[in-house]
Amino acid sequence: MEIVIVADRAAVGEVAAGAIADLVAVKPDALLGVATGSSPLPVYTALAARVAAGALDVGRLRICQLDEYVGLPPGHPESYRAVIEREVLTPLGLTPASFLGPDGAAEDLPAACAAYERELQEAGGVDLQLLGVGSDGHIGFNEPCSSFSSRTRVKTLTHRTRLDNARFFGSLDEVPWHVLTQGIATISDARHLVLVAAGEAKAEAIALTVEGPLAAVTPASALQLHPHATVIVDEAAASRL
Ligand code: GLP
Repeated sequence: MEIVIVADRAAVGEVAAGAIADLVAVKPDALLGVATGSSPLPVYTALAARVAAGALDVGRLRICQLDEYVGLPPGHPESYRAVIEREVLTPLGLTPASFLGPDGAAEDLPAACAAYERELQEAGGVDLQLLGVGSDGHIGFNEPCSSFSSRTRVKTLTHRTRLDNARFFGSLDEVPWHVLTQGIATISDARHLVLVAAGEAKAEAIALTVEGPLAAVTPASALQLHPHATVIVDEAAASRL
Protein backbone atom coordinates (compact mmCIF):
# COMPACT_ATOMS: atom_id res chain seq x y z
CA MET A 1 0.00 0.00 0.00
CA GLU A 2 1.31 3.42 -0.94
CA ILE A 3 0.55 6.23 1.55
CA VAL A 4 0.82 9.83 0.36
CA ILE A 5 0.55 12.54 3.02
CA VAL A 6 0.04 16.10 1.77
CA ALA A 7 -0.69 19.44 3.39
CA ASP A 8 -4.38 19.91 2.82
CA ARG A 9 -7.61 18.85 1.11
CA ALA A 10 -6.79 20.67 -2.14
CA ALA A 11 -3.43 18.87 -2.38
CA VAL A 12 -5.21 15.53 -1.84
CA GLY A 13 -7.34 16.40 -4.87
CA GLU A 14 -4.32 17.37 -6.98
CA VAL A 15 -2.41 14.15 -6.26
CA ALA A 16 -5.43 11.93 -6.94
CA ALA A 17 -6.24 13.88 -10.12
CA GLY A 18 -2.62 13.30 -11.18
CA ALA A 19 -3.08 9.54 -10.82
CA ILE A 20 -6.23 9.71 -12.97
CA ALA A 21 -4.51 11.91 -15.57
CA ASP A 22 -1.59 9.42 -15.74
CA LEU A 23 -4.08 6.62 -16.38
CA VAL A 24 -5.93 8.57 -19.08
CA ALA A 25 -2.60 9.35 -20.79
CA VAL A 26 -1.97 5.64 -21.37
CA LYS A 27 -5.61 4.51 -21.64
CA PRO A 28 -7.94 7.28 -22.87
CA ASP A 29 -11.03 5.02 -22.67
CA ALA A 30 -10.27 3.83 -19.12
CA LEU A 31 -13.16 2.90 -16.84
CA LEU A 32 -12.95 5.21 -13.83
CA GLY A 33 -14.91 4.29 -10.72
CA VAL A 34 -16.04 7.41 -8.91
CA ALA A 35 -17.30 7.93 -5.37
CA THR A 36 -19.75 10.32 -3.80
CA GLY A 37 -19.37 12.21 -0.54
CA SER A 38 -17.32 15.30 0.21
CA SER A 39 -13.89 13.62 0.16
CA PRO A 40 -13.56 13.19 -3.63
CA LEU A 41 -14.85 16.69 -4.48
CA PRO A 42 -11.35 18.26 -4.61
CA VAL A 43 -10.36 15.49 -7.02
CA TYR A 44 -13.18 16.43 -9.39
CA THR A 45 -12.32 20.12 -9.04
CA ALA A 46 -8.67 19.41 -9.90
CA LEU A 47 -9.66 17.22 -12.86
CA ALA A 48 -12.06 19.85 -14.19
CA ALA A 49 -9.31 22.49 -13.93
CA ARG A 50 -6.97 20.30 -15.99
CA VAL A 51 -9.72 19.76 -18.59
CA ALA A 52 -10.50 23.50 -18.72
CA ALA A 53 -6.80 24.29 -19.17
CA GLY A 54 -6.60 21.84 -22.08
CA ALA A 55 -4.12 19.69 -20.15
CA LEU A 56 -6.39 16.65 -19.97
CA ASP A 57 -8.74 15.11 -22.53
CA VAL A 58 -11.43 12.95 -20.91
CA GLY A 59 -13.55 12.69 -24.05
CA ARG A 60 -13.30 8.88 -24.10
CA LEU A 61 -13.21 8.26 -20.36
CA ARG A 62 -15.95 5.98 -19.02
CA ILE A 63 -17.38 6.39 -15.53
CA CYS A 64 -19.01 3.94 -13.13
CA GLN A 65 -20.70 4.21 -9.77
CA LEU A 66 -19.80 2.50 -6.50
CA ASP A 67 -23.22 2.52 -4.92
CA GLU A 68 -26.75 3.89 -5.04
CA TYR A 69 -29.69 4.49 -2.73
CA VAL A 70 -32.70 2.22 -3.07
CA GLY A 71 -36.13 3.65 -3.67
CA LEU A 72 -35.40 7.26 -4.58
CA PRO A 73 -37.52 8.29 -7.56
CA PRO A 74 -35.61 8.65 -10.85
CA GLY A 75 -34.09 12.12 -11.06
CA HIS A 76 -34.11 12.67 -7.27
CA PRO A 77 -31.29 15.21 -6.72
CA GLU A 78 -29.66 13.07 -4.00
CA SER A 79 -29.67 9.82 -5.96
CA TYR A 80 -26.00 9.03 -6.50
CA ARG A 81 -26.60 8.97 -10.25
CA ALA A 82 -27.80 12.58 -10.07
CA VAL A 83 -24.96 13.55 -7.71
CA ILE A 84 -22.33 12.10 -10.05
CA GLU A 85 -23.94 13.75 -13.08
CA ARG A 86 -23.80 17.09 -11.25
CA GLU A 87 -20.38 16.77 -9.62
CA VAL A 88 -18.41 14.71 -12.14
CA LEU A 89 -20.02 14.36 -15.57
CA THR A 90 -21.13 17.95 -16.10
CA PRO A 91 -17.87 19.61 -14.95
CA LEU A 92 -15.85 17.17 -17.09
CA GLY A 93 -18.15 17.50 -20.10
CA LEU A 94 -18.95 13.77 -20.15
CA THR A 95 -22.24 12.41 -21.47
CA PRO A 96 -24.41 9.99 -19.44
CA ALA A 97 -23.86 7.38 -22.16
CA SER A 98 -20.43 6.80 -20.68
CA PHE A 99 -21.84 6.18 -17.22
CA LEU A 100 -22.54 2.77 -15.63
CA GLY A 101 -24.36 2.34 -12.33
CA PRO A 102 -26.61 -0.01 -10.38
CA ASP A 103 -30.37 0.57 -10.69
CA GLY A 104 -31.68 1.46 -7.23
CA ALA A 105 -35.20 1.88 -8.61
CA ALA A 106 -35.40 -1.67 -10.04
CA GLU A 107 -38.28 -3.90 -8.97
CA ASP A 108 -35.94 -6.89 -8.71
CA LEU A 109 -32.96 -5.54 -6.76
CA PRO A 110 -30.88 -8.76 -6.61
CA ALA A 111 -31.23 -9.02 -10.42
CA ALA A 112 -30.13 -5.38 -10.75
CA CYS A 113 -27.05 -6.16 -8.63
CA ALA A 114 -26.16 -9.19 -10.75
CA ALA A 115 -26.70 -7.14 -13.92
CA TYR A 116 -24.31 -4.47 -12.65
CA GLU A 117 -21.63 -7.06 -11.89
CA ARG A 118 -21.98 -8.33 -15.47
CA GLU A 119 -21.87 -4.81 -16.90
CA LEU A 120 -18.64 -4.02 -15.08
CA GLN A 121 -17.03 -7.21 -16.32
CA GLU A 122 -18.25 -6.72 -19.90
CA ALA A 123 -16.82 -3.20 -19.79
CA GLY A 124 -13.42 -4.77 -19.12
CA GLY A 125 -13.27 -4.08 -15.39
CA VAL A 126 -12.55 -0.90 -13.48
CA ASP A 127 -9.12 0.59 -14.14
CA LEU A 128 -9.02 2.99 -11.19
CA GLN A 129 -11.54 3.15 -8.37
CA LEU A 130 -11.62 6.34 -6.37
CA LEU A 131 -12.82 5.81 -2.79
CA GLY A 132 -13.72 7.90 0.20
CA VAL A 133 -13.98 6.33 3.62
CA GLY A 134 -16.79 6.62 6.14
CA SER A 135 -15.96 7.69 9.67
CA ASP A 136 -16.55 4.06 10.67
CA GLY A 137 -14.23 2.72 7.98
CA HIS A 138 -16.86 1.83 5.37
CA ILE A 139 -16.14 1.98 1.65
CA GLY A 140 -18.94 2.38 -0.86
CA PHE A 141 -21.84 1.39 1.35
CA ASN A 142 -20.09 -1.68 2.75
CA GLU A 143 -20.86 -1.07 6.38
CA PRO A 144 -18.75 -2.56 9.20
CA CYS A 145 -18.78 -6.38 9.17
CA SER A 146 -19.34 -6.60 5.41
CA SER A 147 -17.63 -9.68 4.03
CA PHE A 148 -14.34 -9.19 2.21
CA SER A 149 -15.74 -11.59 -0.42
CA SER A 150 -18.96 -9.60 -0.96
CA ARG A 151 -20.19 -8.68 -4.44
CA THR A 152 -22.76 -6.04 -5.46
CA ARG A 153 -25.81 -6.48 -3.25
CA VAL A 154 -28.50 -4.78 -1.17
CA LYS A 155 -27.32 -3.42 2.19
CA THR A 156 -29.07 -1.75 5.10
CA LEU A 157 -27.43 1.45 6.28
CA THR A 158 -26.30 1.82 9.87
CA HIS A 159 -27.78 4.57 12.00
CA ARG A 160 -24.39 6.35 11.95
CA THR A 161 -24.24 6.46 8.14
CA ARG A 162 -27.85 7.64 7.90
CA LEU A 163 -27.02 10.40 10.39
CA ASP A 164 -23.82 11.30 8.46
CA ASN A 165 -25.81 11.52 5.21
CA ALA A 166 -28.86 13.31 6.63
CA ARG A 167 -27.17 16.62 5.77
CA PHE A 168 -27.95 15.98 2.10
CA PHE A 169 -31.66 15.41 2.76
CA GLY A 170 -34.35 17.53 4.38
CA SER A 171 -34.43 15.35 7.48
CA LEU A 172 -33.17 12.01 8.81
CA ASP A 173 -36.53 10.44 7.93
CA GLU A 174 -35.89 11.13 4.25
CA VAL A 175 -32.58 9.21 4.16
CA PRO A 176 -33.19 5.80 2.56
CA TRP A 177 -32.61 2.73 4.72
CA HIS A 178 -31.40 0.55 1.88
CA VAL A 179 -28.74 0.85 -0.81
CA LEU A 180 -27.07 -1.13 -3.57
CA THR A 181 -23.31 -1.23 -3.30
CA GLN A 182 -20.41 -2.87 -5.04
CA GLY A 183 -19.11 -5.47 -2.59
CA ILE A 184 -15.62 -5.41 -1.15
CA ALA A 185 -14.53 -8.13 -3.60
CA THR A 186 -16.12 -6.16 -6.47
CA ILE A 187 -14.23 -3.02 -5.43
CA SER A 188 -11.02 -5.03 -5.06
CA ASP A 189 -11.30 -6.21 -8.69
CA ALA A 190 -10.33 -2.69 -9.78
CA ARG A 191 -6.74 -2.56 -11.01
CA HIS A 192 -5.88 0.46 -8.87
CA LEU A 193 -7.63 1.64 -5.71
CA VAL A 194 -7.16 5.29 -4.72
CA LEU A 195 -8.64 6.22 -1.34
CA VAL A 196 -8.76 9.90 -0.41
CA ALA A 197 -9.48 11.43 3.00
CA ALA A 198 -8.98 14.78 4.68
CA GLY A 199 -9.60 16.19 8.13
CA GLU A 200 -9.28 15.03 11.72
CA ALA A 201 -12.69 13.32 11.61
CA LYS A 202 -11.19 10.67 9.31
CA ALA A 203 -7.97 10.12 11.32
CA GLU A 204 -9.20 7.07 13.21
CA ALA A 205 -10.66 5.43 10.11
CA ILE A 206 -7.39 6.03 8.25
CA ALA A 207 -5.29 4.58 11.09
CA LEU A 208 -7.49 1.45 11.12
CA THR A 209 -7.42 1.22 7.31
CA VAL A 210 -3.64 1.48 7.02
CA GLU A 211 -2.25 0.09 10.28
CA GLY A 212 -5.16 -1.74 11.89
CA PRO A 213 -5.79 -5.47 11.67
CA LEU A 214 -7.43 -6.87 8.56
CA ALA A 215 -10.94 -6.94 9.90
CA ALA A 216 -14.44 -7.00 8.46
CA VAL A 217 -15.36 -4.43 11.10
CA THR A 218 -13.13 -1.99 9.13
CA PRO A 219 -14.12 -2.63 5.49
CA ALA A 220 -11.40 -0.27 4.20
CA SER A 221 -8.71 -2.50 5.77
CA ALA A 222 -9.31 -4.77 2.73
CA LEU A 223 -7.08 -2.31 0.85
CA GLN A 224 -4.13 -3.91 2.67
CA LEU A 225 -4.72 -7.03 0.54
CA HIS A 226 -4.80 -5.16 -2.78
CA PRO A 227 -1.72 -5.28 -5.04
CA HIS A 228 -2.07 -1.62 -6.06
CA ALA A 229 -3.69 0.57 -3.44
CA THR A 230 -2.87 4.24 -2.84
CA VAL A 231 -4.10 6.18 0.19
CA ILE A 232 -3.87 9.96 -0.20
CA VAL A 233 -4.50 11.95 2.97
CA ASP A 234 -3.88 15.37 4.41
CA GLU A 235 -1.88 15.85 7.60
CA ALA A 236 -5.01 15.93 9.80
CA ALA A 237 -6.33 12.64 8.43
CA ALA A 238 -2.83 11.16 8.84
CA SER A 239 -2.49 12.38 12.42
CA ARG A 240 -3.03 8.97 14.03
CA LEU A 241 -0.69 7.03 11.77
C1 GLP B 1 -21.07 7.70 1.76
C2 GLP B 1 -20.59 7.08 0.45
C3 GLP B 1 -19.13 6.66 0.56
C4 GLP B 1 -18.31 7.84 1.11
C5 GLP B 1 -18.82 8.19 2.48
C6 GLP B 1 -17.99 9.29 3.15
O1 GLP B 1 -21.36 6.72 2.71
N1 GLP B 1 -21.37 5.94 0.09
O2 GLP B 1 -18.66 6.27 -0.72
O3 GLP B 1 -16.96 7.45 1.17
O4 GLP B 1 -20.16 8.64 2.32
O5 GLP B 1 -18.39 10.55 2.73
P1 GLP B 1 -17.58 11.87 3.01
O6 GLP B 1 -16.45 11.86 2.07
O7 GLP B 1 -18.55 12.98 2.76
O8 GLP B 1 -17.14 11.82 4.44
